[in-house]
Amino acid sequence: MKILIKNGHIVDPSQNIDGIGDVLSEEGRIKGIGDLPPTPNLRIIDATGLYVFPGLIDMHTHLREPGFEYKETIKTGTMAAVRGGFTTVCAMPNTSPVNDNSSVTDLIITKAIQEGACAVFPIGAITKGQDGEELAEMGIMHAEGCVAFSDDGRPVMNSLIMRRALEYSKTFDVPIIAHCEDLSLSEDGVMNEGLLSLTLGLKGTPAEAEEVMIARDIALAGLTRGRLHIAHVSTEGSVRLVRQAKGRGINVTAETCPHYFSIMEDAVKGYNTNAKVNPPLRTKKDIEAIKQGLKDGIIDVIATDHAPHHRDEKLREFDQSPSGISGLETALSLSLRLVEEGVLTLNQLIGKMTVSPAKILKINKGTLKVGSDAGVVILDLNKEYKVEAEKFVSKGKNTPFDGWVLKGMPVITISKGKVYEW
Ligand code: DOR
Repeated sequence: MKILIKNGHIVDPSQNIDGIGDVLSEEGRIKGIGDLPPTPNLRIIDATGLYVFPGLIDMHTHLREPGFEYKETIKTGTMAAVRGGFTTVCAMPNTSPVNDNSSVTDLIITKAIQEGACAVFPIGAITKGQDGEELAEMGIMHAEGCVAFSDDGRPVMNSLIMRRALEYSKTFDVPIIAHCEDLSLSEDGVMNEGLLSLTLGLKGTPAEAEEVMIARDIALAGLTRGRLHIAHVSTEGSVRLVRQAKGRGINVTAETCPHYFSIMEDAVKGYNTNAKVNPPLRTKKDIEAIKQGLKDGIIDVIATDHAPHHRDEKLREFDQSPSGISGLETALSLSLRLVEEGVLTLNQLIGKMTVSPAKILKINKGTLKVGSDAGVVILDLNKEYKVEAEKFVSKGKNTPFDGWVLKGMPVITISKGKVYEW
Protein backbone atom coordinates (compact mmCIF):
# COMPACT_ATOMS: atom_id res chain seq x y z
CA MET A 1 0.00 0.00 0.00
CA LYS A 2 1.22 3.51 -0.88
CA ILE A 3 0.59 6.17 1.73
CA LEU A 4 1.21 9.87 1.28
CA ILE A 5 1.28 11.86 4.51
CA LYS A 6 0.60 15.45 3.49
CA ASN A 7 1.44 18.73 5.17
CA GLY A 8 2.62 17.41 8.52
CA HIS A 9 5.27 19.09 10.62
CA ILE A 10 8.11 16.62 10.11
CA VAL A 11 10.71 16.26 12.84
CA ASP A 12 13.50 13.88 11.88
CA PRO A 13 16.71 14.53 13.82
CA SER A 14 18.60 11.98 11.70
CA GLN A 15 18.35 14.38 8.74
CA ASN A 16 18.01 17.67 10.63
CA ILE A 17 14.50 18.06 9.27
CA ASP A 18 12.14 20.26 11.26
CA GLY A 19 9.43 21.76 9.06
CA ILE A 20 6.26 21.23 7.04
CA GLY A 21 6.41 18.57 4.35
CA ASP A 22 5.14 15.27 3.00
CA VAL A 23 6.24 11.69 3.54
CA LEU A 24 5.62 8.87 1.09
CA SER A 25 5.58 5.35 2.50
CA GLU A 26 5.22 2.22 0.38
CA GLU A 27 5.13 -1.34 1.68
CA GLY A 28 6.57 -0.10 4.95
CA ARG A 29 9.47 1.75 3.35
CA ILE A 30 10.02 5.48 3.04
CA LYS A 31 9.94 6.32 -0.64
CA GLY A 32 10.06 10.10 -0.49
CA ILE A 33 10.19 13.10 1.81
CA GLY A 34 9.70 16.78 0.96
CA ASP A 35 7.08 18.43 -1.21
CA LEU A 36 5.48 15.46 -2.92
CA PRO A 37 2.67 15.58 -5.50
CA PRO A 38 -0.14 13.03 -5.16
CA THR A 39 -0.10 10.26 -7.76
CA PRO A 40 -2.83 7.69 -8.55
CA ASN A 41 -3.54 4.79 -6.18
CA LEU A 42 -2.37 6.57 -3.08
CA ARG A 43 -3.90 6.66 0.32
CA ILE A 44 -3.56 10.28 1.40
CA ILE A 45 -3.36 11.14 5.09
CA ASP A 46 -3.88 14.82 5.78
CA ALA A 47 -1.47 15.65 8.60
CA THR A 48 -2.15 19.39 8.64
CA GLY A 49 -1.65 20.60 12.21
CA LEU A 50 -0.02 17.31 13.21
CA TYR A 51 3.59 16.23 13.78
CA VAL A 52 5.27 13.46 11.81
CA PHE A 53 8.21 11.60 13.37
CA PRO A 54 10.18 8.48 12.53
CA GLY A 55 8.81 5.51 14.48
CA LEU A 56 10.32 5.67 17.97
CA ILE A 57 12.85 3.15 19.27
CA ASP A 58 12.60 1.71 22.77
CA MET A 59 15.97 0.18 23.60
CA HIS A 60 14.72 -1.23 26.93
CA THR A 61 11.55 -3.33 26.73
CA HIS A 62 10.54 -6.44 28.64
CA LEU A 63 8.39 -8.46 26.26
CA ARG A 64 8.31 -11.43 28.70
CA GLU A 65 8.06 -14.11 26.00
CA PRO A 66 9.16 -16.89 26.27
CA GLY A 67 8.08 -17.98 29.70
CA PHE A 68 6.03 -15.19 31.20
CA GLU A 69 3.24 -14.96 28.65
CA TYR A 70 0.76 -14.28 31.46
CA LYS A 71 2.50 -10.89 31.88
CA GLU A 72 3.03 -10.00 28.21
CA THR A 73 3.69 -11.61 24.85
CA ILE A 74 5.63 -10.49 21.80
CA LYS A 75 2.25 -9.84 20.18
CA THR A 76 0.72 -7.75 22.97
CA GLY A 77 3.97 -5.98 23.85
CA THR A 78 4.60 -4.87 20.28
CA MET A 79 0.96 -3.79 19.95
CA ALA A 80 1.44 -1.65 23.06
CA ALA A 81 4.61 -0.27 21.49
CA VAL A 82 2.77 0.75 18.35
CA ARG A 83 0.04 2.38 20.44
CA GLY A 84 2.74 4.41 22.14
CA GLY A 85 4.43 5.49 18.89
CA PHE A 86 7.27 2.94 18.94
CA THR A 87 7.99 0.93 15.83
CA THR A 88 11.19 -0.67 17.12
CA VAL A 89 11.74 -2.29 20.51
CA CYS A 90 14.68 -4.13 22.02
CA ALA A 91 13.70 -7.14 24.09
CA MET A 92 15.50 -7.63 27.39
CA PRO A 93 16.69 -11.19 28.04
CA ASN A 94 15.15 -11.89 31.48
CA THR A 95 12.66 -14.34 30.03
CA SER A 96 12.29 -18.02 30.91
CA PRO A 97 14.45 -19.54 29.60
CA VAL A 98 16.76 -16.56 29.66
CA ASN A 99 17.88 -15.34 26.24
CA ASP A 100 21.41 -16.58 26.83
CA ASN A 101 21.74 -18.77 23.72
CA SER A 102 20.98 -18.56 20.04
CA SER A 103 17.89 -20.79 20.12
CA VAL A 104 16.07 -18.35 22.40
CA THR A 105 17.29 -15.44 20.27
CA ASP A 106 16.02 -17.25 17.18
CA LEU A 107 12.66 -17.95 18.80
CA ILE A 108 12.18 -14.28 19.68
CA ILE A 109 13.14 -13.14 16.18
CA THR A 110 10.93 -15.72 14.46
CA LYS A 111 7.93 -14.95 16.68
CA ALA A 112 8.44 -11.23 16.21
CA ILE A 113 8.46 -11.62 12.43
CA GLN A 114 5.28 -13.70 12.58
CA GLU A 115 3.34 -11.93 15.32
CA GLY A 116 5.07 -8.66 16.14
CA ALA A 117 3.35 -5.40 15.29
CA CYS A 118 6.74 -3.70 15.14
CA ALA A 119 10.42 -4.53 14.72
CA VAL A 120 12.02 -6.42 17.60
CA PHE A 121 15.75 -6.63 18.28
CA PRO A 122 16.74 -9.07 21.02
CA ILE A 123 19.25 -8.18 23.69
CA GLY A 124 21.21 -11.22 24.84
CA ALA A 125 22.21 -12.02 28.39
CA ILE A 126 25.77 -11.22 29.46
CA THR A 127 25.99 -14.33 31.61
CA LYS A 128 24.43 -17.77 31.37
CA GLY A 129 21.07 -17.78 33.14
CA GLN A 130 21.83 -14.18 34.17
CA ASP A 131 23.58 -15.79 37.10
CA GLY A 132 26.58 -13.48 36.86
CA GLU A 133 29.03 -16.39 36.82
CA GLU A 134 29.83 -17.52 33.30
CA LEU A 135 29.77 -15.45 30.12
CA ALA A 136 27.07 -16.39 27.63
CA GLU A 137 27.91 -17.21 24.02
CA MET A 138 27.77 -13.60 22.90
CA GLY A 139 29.37 -14.25 19.51
CA ILE A 140 26.78 -16.79 18.43
CA MET A 141 23.93 -14.69 19.79
CA HIS A 142 25.25 -11.62 18.04
CA ALA A 143 25.41 -13.55 14.77
CA GLU A 144 21.81 -14.62 15.38
CA GLY A 145 20.66 -11.01 15.81
CA CYS A 146 21.31 -9.73 19.35
CA VAL A 147 22.20 -6.05 19.20
CA ALA A 148 23.49 -5.64 22.77
CA PHE A 149 24.09 -7.65 25.92
CA SER A 150 22.65 -7.10 29.38
CA ASP A 151 21.74 -8.98 32.54
CA ASP A 152 19.05 -6.36 33.13
CA GLY A 153 16.96 -6.98 36.19
CA ARG A 154 20.20 -7.99 37.88
CA PRO A 155 23.70 -6.53 38.02
CA VAL A 156 26.85 -8.42 37.09
CA MET A 157 28.29 -8.38 40.61
CA ASN A 158 31.62 -10.01 39.74
CA SER A 159 33.95 -7.29 38.43
CA LEU A 160 36.13 -9.76 36.53
CA ILE A 161 33.13 -11.13 34.65
CA MET A 162 32.05 -7.57 33.83
CA ARG A 163 35.57 -6.81 32.63
CA ARG A 164 35.54 -9.88 30.39
CA ALA A 165 32.08 -8.96 29.06
CA LEU A 166 33.28 -5.50 28.10
CA GLU A 167 36.37 -6.98 26.46
CA TYR A 168 34.53 -9.75 24.63
CA SER A 169 31.76 -7.47 23.33
CA LYS A 170 34.38 -5.29 21.67
CA THR A 171 34.93 -8.08 19.15
CA PHE A 172 31.40 -7.47 17.85
CA ASP A 173 31.32 -3.74 18.58
CA VAL A 174 28.12 -4.03 20.62
CA PRO A 175 27.29 -2.25 23.87
CA ILE A 176 27.07 -3.84 27.28
CA ILE A 177 23.94 -2.46 28.93
CA ALA A 178 24.58 -2.30 32.65
CA HIS A 179 21.88 -2.67 35.29
CA CYS A 180 23.84 -0.84 37.98
CA GLU A 181 22.95 -2.03 41.46
CA ASP A 182 25.28 -3.17 44.21
CA LEU A 183 23.23 -5.98 45.69
CA SER A 184 25.13 -5.91 48.96
CA LEU A 185 23.88 -2.34 49.43
CA SER A 186 20.41 -2.66 47.99
CA GLU A 187 19.72 -6.05 49.54
CA ASP A 188 16.00 -6.31 50.34
CA GLY A 189 15.36 -2.65 49.54
CA VAL A 190 11.98 -2.04 47.99
CA MET A 191 11.97 1.75 47.65
CA ASN A 192 14.33 4.72 47.88
CA GLU A 193 16.16 4.92 51.21
CA GLY A 194 15.32 8.01 53.21
CA LEU A 195 12.89 9.53 55.65
CA LEU A 196 9.92 8.26 53.68
CA SER A 197 11.07 4.63 53.68
CA LEU A 198 11.57 4.96 57.43
CA THR A 199 8.09 6.41 57.90
CA LEU A 200 6.48 3.73 55.77
CA GLY A 201 8.47 1.00 57.48
CA LEU A 202 9.86 -0.23 54.18
CA LYS A 203 13.44 -1.28 53.54
CA GLY A 204 15.21 1.35 51.45
CA THR A 205 17.83 1.19 48.69
CA PRO A 206 20.26 4.08 48.85
CA ALA A 207 21.17 6.05 45.75
CA GLU A 208 24.72 4.83 46.37
CA ALA A 209 23.74 1.24 45.48
CA GLU A 210 23.34 2.50 41.91
CA GLU A 211 26.22 4.94 41.97
CA VAL A 212 28.84 2.50 43.33
CA MET A 213 28.18 0.19 40.39
CA ILE A 214 28.15 2.97 37.82
CA ALA A 215 31.53 4.08 39.15
CA ARG A 216 32.86 0.52 38.89
CA ASP A 217 31.51 -0.01 35.39
CA ILE A 218 32.92 3.31 34.21
CA ALA A 219 36.30 2.28 35.61
CA LEU A 220 36.04 -1.03 33.74
CA ALA A 221 34.98 0.71 30.53
CA GLY A 222 38.12 2.86 30.92
CA LEU A 223 40.25 -0.21 31.46
CA THR A 224 38.85 -2.23 28.58
CA ARG A 225 37.76 0.53 26.19
CA GLY A 226 34.56 -1.47 25.76
CA ARG A 227 31.23 0.19 25.03
CA LEU A 228 29.22 0.73 28.19
CA HIS A 229 25.59 1.83 28.26
CA ILE A 230 24.06 2.60 31.65
CA ALA A 231 20.44 1.52 31.93
CA HIS A 232 17.72 3.40 33.85
CA VAL A 233 19.69 6.21 35.49
CA SER A 234 17.73 7.40 38.53
CA THR A 235 19.99 9.53 40.75
CA GLU A 236 21.78 12.85 40.82
CA GLY A 237 25.08 11.11 41.62
CA SER A 238 24.70 8.80 38.63
CA VAL A 239 24.27 11.76 36.29
CA ARG A 240 27.41 13.31 37.84
CA LEU A 241 29.41 10.12 37.31
CA VAL A 242 28.36 9.80 33.67
CA ARG A 243 29.11 13.49 33.14
CA GLN A 244 32.63 13.05 34.56
CA ALA A 245 33.22 9.88 32.56
CA LYS A 246 32.16 11.51 29.29
CA GLY A 247 34.39 14.45 30.15
CA ARG A 248 37.30 12.02 30.45
CA GLY A 249 36.51 10.46 27.08
CA ILE A 250 35.23 7.13 28.40
CA ASN A 251 33.07 5.23 25.94
CA VAL A 252 29.84 5.49 27.92
CA THR A 253 26.23 6.31 27.09
CA ALA A 254 23.22 6.46 29.37
CA GLU A 255 19.46 6.24 29.42
CA THR A 256 16.74 7.25 31.81
CA CYS A 257 13.03 6.45 31.81
CA PRO A 258 9.96 8.72 31.97
CA HIS A 259 9.11 7.68 35.53
CA TYR A 260 12.47 8.93 36.80
CA PHE A 261 11.77 12.49 35.68
CA SER A 262 7.99 12.50 36.18
CA ILE A 263 7.33 11.24 39.71
CA MET A 264 9.12 10.96 43.05
CA GLU A 265 9.39 8.40 45.82
CA ASP A 266 6.18 9.68 47.44
CA ALA A 267 4.27 7.90 44.66
CA VAL A 268 4.66 4.72 46.73
CA LYS A 269 2.69 6.21 49.62
CA GLY A 270 -0.29 4.01 50.48
CA TYR A 271 1.99 1.10 49.55
CA ASN A 272 1.19 1.62 45.90
CA THR A 273 2.87 -1.32 44.21
CA ASN A 274 2.33 0.27 40.78
CA ALA A 275 5.03 2.75 41.78
CA LYS A 276 7.42 0.00 42.85
CA VAL A 277 10.23 -0.12 40.34
CA ASN A 278 13.91 -0.96 40.29
CA PRO A 279 15.86 1.28 40.63
CA PRO A 280 13.31 2.99 42.84
CA LEU A 281 11.69 6.38 42.31
CA ARG A 282 13.86 9.03 43.93
CA THR A 283 13.64 12.66 45.05
CA LYS A 284 13.26 16.19 43.69
CA LYS A 285 17.00 16.82 43.41
CA ASP A 286 17.43 13.60 41.44
CA ILE A 287 14.68 14.61 39.02
CA GLU A 288 16.28 18.00 38.56
CA ALA A 289 19.70 16.44 37.88
CA ILE A 290 18.19 13.98 35.39
CA LYS A 291 16.47 16.80 33.52
CA GLN A 292 19.71 18.75 33.46
CA GLY A 293 21.53 15.63 32.24
CA LEU A 294 18.99 15.21 29.44
CA LYS A 295 19.33 18.86 28.51
CA ASP A 296 23.14 18.76 28.43
CA GLY A 297 23.24 15.53 26.43
CA ILE A 298 24.79 13.58 29.32
CA ILE A 299 21.77 11.27 29.18
CA ASP A 300 21.57 10.15 25.57
CA VAL A 301 18.38 8.14 25.50
CA ILE A 302 14.88 8.00 26.93
CA ALA A 303 13.83 4.35 27.17
CA THR A 304 10.71 2.93 28.77
CA ASP A 305 11.93 -0.06 30.83
CA HIS A 306 8.45 -1.35 30.00
CA ALA A 307 8.05 -4.00 32.72
CA PRO A 308 4.55 -5.47 32.61
CA HIS A 309 3.41 -7.63 35.52
CA HIS A 310 0.20 -9.50 36.21
CA ARG A 311 -2.45 -7.77 38.29
CA ASP A 312 -2.33 -10.53 40.91
CA GLU A 313 1.41 -10.02 41.38
CA LYS A 314 0.98 -6.30 41.89
CA LEU A 315 -1.82 -7.03 44.39
CA ARG A 316 0.67 -8.68 46.72
CA GLU A 317 1.93 -6.71 49.68
CA PHE A 318 4.53 -4.10 48.79
CA ASP A 319 7.56 -6.13 49.90
CA GLN A 320 6.48 -9.16 47.90
CA SER A 321 5.29 -7.44 44.77
CA PRO A 322 7.55 -7.43 41.67
CA SER A 323 9.19 -4.20 40.51
CA GLY A 324 8.22 -2.62 37.25
CA ILE A 325 6.04 -0.18 35.38
CA SER A 326 4.13 -0.79 32.17
CA GLY A 327 5.59 2.11 30.23
CA LEU A 328 5.20 1.85 26.48
CA GLU A 329 1.83 3.57 26.26
CA THR A 330 2.65 6.64 28.35
CA ALA A 331 6.34 7.22 27.56
CA LEU A 332 5.92 9.67 24.72
CA SER A 333 3.29 11.86 26.41
CA LEU A 334 5.24 11.95 29.68
CA SER A 335 8.39 12.87 27.79
CA LEU A 336 6.60 15.62 25.89
CA ARG A 337 6.19 17.38 29.24
CA LEU A 338 9.94 18.04 29.04
CA VAL A 339 9.31 20.04 25.88
CA GLU A 340 6.50 21.99 27.52
CA GLU A 341 8.78 22.74 30.49
CA GLY A 342 11.56 23.94 28.19
CA VAL A 343 13.99 21.18 29.23
CA LEU A 344 14.30 19.83 25.68
CA THR A 345 13.27 21.00 22.25
CA LEU A 346 10.94 18.66 20.39
CA ASN A 347 13.81 17.87 18.06
CA GLN A 348 16.08 16.92 20.97
CA LEU A 349 13.39 14.79 22.57
CA ILE A 350 12.66 12.86 19.38
CA GLY A 351 16.42 12.48 18.94
CA LYS A 352 16.64 10.72 22.30
CA MET A 353 13.93 8.32 21.18
CA THR A 354 15.16 7.69 17.64
CA VAL A 355 18.59 8.62 16.39
CA SER A 356 20.44 8.19 19.73
CA PRO A 357 19.36 4.61 20.44
CA ALA A 358 19.83 3.76 16.74
CA LYS A 359 23.41 5.00 16.93
CA ILE A 360 24.21 3.16 20.16
CA LEU A 361 22.76 -0.10 18.85
CA LYS A 362 23.95 0.44 15.28
CA ILE A 363 20.51 -0.31 13.88
CA ASN A 364 19.08 1.24 10.77
CA LYS A 365 15.89 2.51 12.42
CA GLY A 366 14.54 5.74 13.87
CA THR A 367 14.88 7.67 10.61
CA LEU A 368 12.69 8.84 7.74
CA LYS A 369 15.56 8.61 5.27
CA VAL A 370 14.46 7.38 1.86
CA GLY A 371 14.81 3.60 1.80
CA SER A 372 14.46 3.12 5.54
CA ASP A 373 11.77 0.89 7.05
CA ALA A 374 11.60 2.53 10.44
CA GLY A 375 7.89 3.30 10.40
CA VAL A 376 6.18 6.63 10.99
CA VAL A 377 4.32 8.21 13.89
CA ILE A 378 1.77 10.98 13.47
CA LEU A 379 1.18 12.89 16.65
CA ASP A 380 -1.42 15.38 17.79
CA LEU A 381 0.62 17.48 20.16
CA ASN A 382 -2.40 19.23 21.61
CA LYS A 383 -4.65 16.25 22.17
CA GLU A 384 -5.33 15.76 25.86
CA TYR A 385 -6.34 12.39 27.16
CA LYS A 386 -6.79 10.57 30.43
CA VAL A 387 -4.55 7.58 31.10
CA GLU A 388 -6.81 4.58 31.65
CA ALA A 389 -4.66 1.62 32.64
CA GLU A 390 -7.53 -0.80 32.11
CA LYS A 391 -7.59 0.21 28.46
CA PHE A 392 -3.86 -0.39 27.93
CA VAL A 393 -3.12 -2.63 24.99
CA SER A 394 -0.33 -4.16 27.07
CA LYS A 395 -1.29 -7.00 29.36
CA GLY A 396 0.48 -5.05 32.10
CA LYS A 397 -1.89 -2.53 33.64
CA ASN A 398 0.71 -1.63 36.27
CA THR A 399 1.18 2.11 35.99
CA PRO A 400 1.42 4.86 38.60
CA PHE A 401 0.07 7.26 35.97
CA ASP A 402 -3.46 5.87 35.89
CA GLY A 403 -5.93 8.76 35.82
CA TRP A 404 -3.32 11.35 34.82
CA VAL A 405 -4.31 13.76 32.10
CA LEU A 406 -1.53 13.93 29.52
CA LYS A 407 -1.10 15.86 26.31
CA GLY A 408 0.24 14.61 23.00
CA MET A 409 -0.96 11.34 21.55
CA PRO A 410 -0.01 9.33 18.50
CA VAL A 411 -3.08 9.37 16.27
CA ILE A 412 -1.54 7.16 13.60
CA THR A 413 1.43 4.77 13.70
CA ILE A 414 2.65 3.12 10.53
CA SER A 415 4.56 -0.01 11.41
CA LYS A 416 5.66 -2.85 9.16
CA GLY A 417 3.60 -1.24 6.41
CA LYS A 418 0.37 -1.35 8.40
CA VAL A 419 -1.57 1.76 9.42
CA TYR A 420 -2.83 1.84 13.01
CA GLU A 421 -5.28 4.65 13.67
CA TRP A 422 -6.85 5.95 16.88
O1 DOR B 1 11.58 -2.49 37.81
C1 DOR B 1 12.19 -3.27 37.10
N1 DOR B 1 11.57 -4.30 36.50
N2 DOR B 1 13.52 -3.13 36.94
C2 DOR B 1 14.27 -4.04 36.32
O2 DOR B 1 15.47 -3.85 36.21
C3 DOR B 1 13.65 -5.28 35.78
C4 DOR B 1 12.22 -5.07 35.51
C5 DOR B 1 11.48 -6.38 35.28
O3 DOR B 1 11.96 -7.21 34.53
O4 DOR B 1 10.36 -6.51 35.82
